[in-house]
Amino acid sequence: MSTSARPDPDKVMIFDTTLRDGEQAPGCSMTEREKLRVAHALAELNVDVIEAGFPAASPGDFDAVQAIAGSISGPVICGLARCNPEDIEKAWHAVRAAQRHRIHVFVATSAIHREYKLQMAKEEIIKNAVEGVKLARRYCEDVEFSPEDASRTELDFLAEVVTAVIEAGATTVNIPDTVGYTVPGEFREVFAYLRKHVPGIDAIRLSVHCHDDLGLAVANSLAAVEAGARQIECTINGIGERAGNCSLEEVVMALKVREPYFGAHTGIDSRRLYPTSRLVSSITGMHVPRNKAVVGENAFAHEAGIHQHGMLRHHATYEIMRPEDVGISRSNLVLGKHSGRHAFRERVKQLGFRLDDAELSRAFKEFKKVADRKKDIFDADIEALVVNADGTGTPGRWQMRELHITAGTGTIAAAAVKLDDTENDRSIEEAAVGDGPVAAAFKALERATGVTLKLKNFDLRSVTLGDDAQGEVTVTVEYNGQPFRGQGLSTDIVEAGARAYLEVINRVSRRHQAAKTDTQEAASA
Ligand code: KIV
Ligand code: ZN
Repeated sequence: MSTSARPDPDKVMIFDTTLRDGEQAPGCSMTEREKLRVAHALAELNVDVIEAGFPAASPGDFDAVQAIAGSISGPVICGLARCNPEDIEKAWHAVRAAQRHRIHVFVATSAIHREYKLQMAKEEIIKNAVEGVKLARRYCEDVEFSPEDASRTELDFLAEVVTAVIEAGATTVNIPDTVGYTVPGEFREVFAYLRKHVPGIDAIRLSVHCHDDLGLAVANSLAAVEAGARQIECTINGIGERAGNCSLEEVVMALKVREPYFGAHTGIDSRRLYPTSRLVSSITGMHVPRNKAVVGENAFAHEAGIHQHGMLRHHATYEIMRPEDVGISRSNLVLGKHSGRHAFRERVKQLGFRLDDAELSRAFKEFKKVADRKKDIFDADIEALVVNADGTGTPGRWQMRELHITAGTGTIAAAAVKLDDTENDRSIEEAAVGDGPVAAAFKALERATGVTLKLKNFDLRSVTLGDDAQGEVTVTVEYNGQPFRGQGLSTDIVEAGARAYLEVINRVSRRHQAAKTDTQEAASA
């Protein structure tokens, strides 16, 4: 007799695609190590599925999906593939090591994609979709199919495609609003139409995947849930192509806060939402606006006197959820330079971060440095230190010992740097002038290291408010046509920028060194 429990009909699965659709967004690409960090955080958040990447897109994507499949337990690990044998085989080899795996195949179905992108007739699209699903099923029992641009596809053709892929063995059918075009009432009708006209649709899981071009991704996803969808595809902080995807934290909290209305729930540990949001924002350099729903700095700030008065009487007067519910546990406890490792560790834990000993030591060392310059260390300062404490920035060949800047109105900015070259056991000093102090510092670093970069973006965020706030700088640069990102944190923004720049220089040097060793090994083989 089978002991397996029946699936809960009110459970909405959360399919996170931060590492695939999110990572596709300009400026959001992540290294394998960063992807693994995010995947661990997603597993702790208790997402049901992690779409770890598009293995056929590049060898780097393949390796990252394989690394995630081999080390993350809990969620299903999914790889995306077009409906062709090479993509599907690659997706399978990338995910096969996972305890639970899924292949997600897709082909576009709308008239505009059929005519201009694919130049395929309707019958060819159906054949391609069916063959893709059948091949994926030969490898894997869990197969998802997406008719790309479904929301702009003729309804009768969409129903034909969905019927065919279900017959071919798809276990999840996902309905994407690829270009963020639909509106909630219309999208509800698409799901109602499919449920009425597709035989066997109640035996598979219906999923929804929305983009945010009109700011409706969350609303459209919730409309789909009302119409029977039981999987939502979304990303942390809503990152993704163009205006982004449905934001995971918003859709999850909407379902939680309004559970009686929707009659549906997710399995997400909502207290992990804020730390995960901070981690993704720090890794990608995509800052979360202060007024962003659920995870923005101001999401629980009450400024107006009348609101504060109401809050003091009863928090529910102006608050529909508690900050603690999403993992924001702001406290009045302010740490300073006399705080010890134990107090620091406790606060880090209370803030919802889990660090291993090496990471804690690195973060504590940085904490002490900041505490020397800044009287009060707030929770946001600690969060910034912690998310930067994964060690990607250190150890590198070049370590900054000194940075001197001269700048002012009417004078040419100049910078002098002293670096330790740890590979050659020597120190090196260089100076440069520039249009401003940051440009001068970057040029001095380039001269000292011999690495020249093309700066593409310089992004500064103030970690807290106040005139001794720390600045977090993210620089995006190009080296040999490849993008690199680095981050630096300091109460001095020029120093934060220089640290970010040096982090990239170290990364480039590491790559260079690795490539040189490979060539030498190949030559001596
Ligand atoms: O937006 C989209 O249509 C997609 C599919 C691949 C699911 O990302
Ligand atoms: Zn998408």
